[in-house]
Amino acid sequence: MPNTDETVWEMEPHTGSKHDILRHYLNRWLPILGKRSTTMNYIDAFAGPGIYKGGEPGSPVVAIETARTHVMRPKGKVNFLFIEKDGERARVLKEQLASRFPAGTLPDGWSYAVENGEFVTVVEKGLNEIEAQGNHLAPTLAFLDPFGFSGHDLPMSTVGRILKAPRCEVFVTFMAGFATRFPEVVPPDTMTKLFGDERWRGVVDLKGEARTDFLLATYEGSLKTIAGAKFTRSFEMKSSDGRVIYDLVFATKHPKGLEAMKEAMWEIDPRGTYTFSDRTDPNQRFLIEFDGGVEPHWVAKAAQMLLVRFSGKTISRRALWEYVVVDTPFPDRSSVLKRLELDGKLTVSGRQRKLSYPDGCTLCFQPS
Ligand SMILES: C[S@@+](CC[C@H](N)C(=O)[O-])C[C@H]1O[C@@H](n2cnc3c(N)ncnc32)[C@H](O)[C@@H]1O
Repeated sequence: MPNTDETVWEMEPHTGSKHDILRHYLNRWLPILGKRSTTMNYIDAFAGPGIYKGGEPGSPVVAIETARTHVMRPKGKVNFLFIEKDGERARVLKEQLASRFPAGTLPDGWSYAVENGEFVTVVEKGLNEIEAQGNHLAPTLAFLDPFGFSGHDLPMSTVGRILKAPRCEVFVTFMAGFATRFPEVVPPDTMTKLFGDERWRGVVDLKGEARTDFLLATYEGSLKTIAGAKFTRSFEMKSSDGRVIYDLVFATKHPKGLEAMKEAMWEIDPRGTYTFSDRTDPNQRFLIEFDGGVEPHWVAKAAQMLLVRFSGKTISRRALWEYVVVDTPFPDRSSVLKRLELDGKLTVSGRQRKLSYPDGCTLCFQPS
């Protein structure tokens, strides 16, 4: 845990991975939304100072830099809003942004603002103004990355107001470890605000890892049943001694958004365990990712899962895509279908090229 008293602190390896997921997701999200939307918002509501002690960029810089250098960067308006409660950090952030992105260096129609305030106050005020004008929030990604744990800082009700608008998504740092330390560290009413109701109380009967698992599942459940997300996906960050530090939880209403985030997480953990540990050797990650030519170990598992689910059935390519993205931990890859077809377990109609699986083709799974 960094020294949270310092204005600028040392960056830990898992923070670098968190930023990498953000980069990979933005790289996918920007062209998807940029094609359809004339205005987009990116909110980083626990923004930090924009720089770490070793000079590494903070999340606000990562977001603007990723968007600015994107080959398919959006042509419309992009508003970046950075909220930071600590006055000194907000001041350092403003300096960082002014020196890295001086006036005239961002594309036309793009802007950023730093608000020295609290997430709830700033966001609720902004949403009240938008709603008073009869409008709703433009497509938004809200990155909610608090230190530690406080339901007052991050209530489910405010998260729900963001998610309510069309094409709005949240990416939240959820600290289940802290949540297990109530009522000593976290008062029950804080838990209820964070979760949006009292279901978290089921944790009292549980012990050890079952407690954190329960709280994460309950939080993801609340994002769906209370805040209105349709899909969630989480990624676990562990310290070098194997402790879970936090989970990054993504919530969206769109399978395409879910797919983009799964792909972003998969880039960081190509083993498919949705985990990063500070113990992970960066050179080993490299080897796993570029193990060229050899079929990744998970392909056989994914193929088996499809066979069990669709044995004897004929379905559209689109239906298969949706099943893989929404209901499995795997990414959608033609290598899985190819393996099934070569093994004689799948026949395909409605395509031009052998061993291809384009949109519009039909997949017939052999009975097992
Ligand atoms: C984990 S740090 C952010 C790190 C940053 N997102 C990054 O990845 O580089 C959390 C930040 O949130 C700020 N903060 C804490 N409570 C807040 C609140 N209620 N609203 C806005 N900012 C808050 C803290 O001062 C701290 O700078």
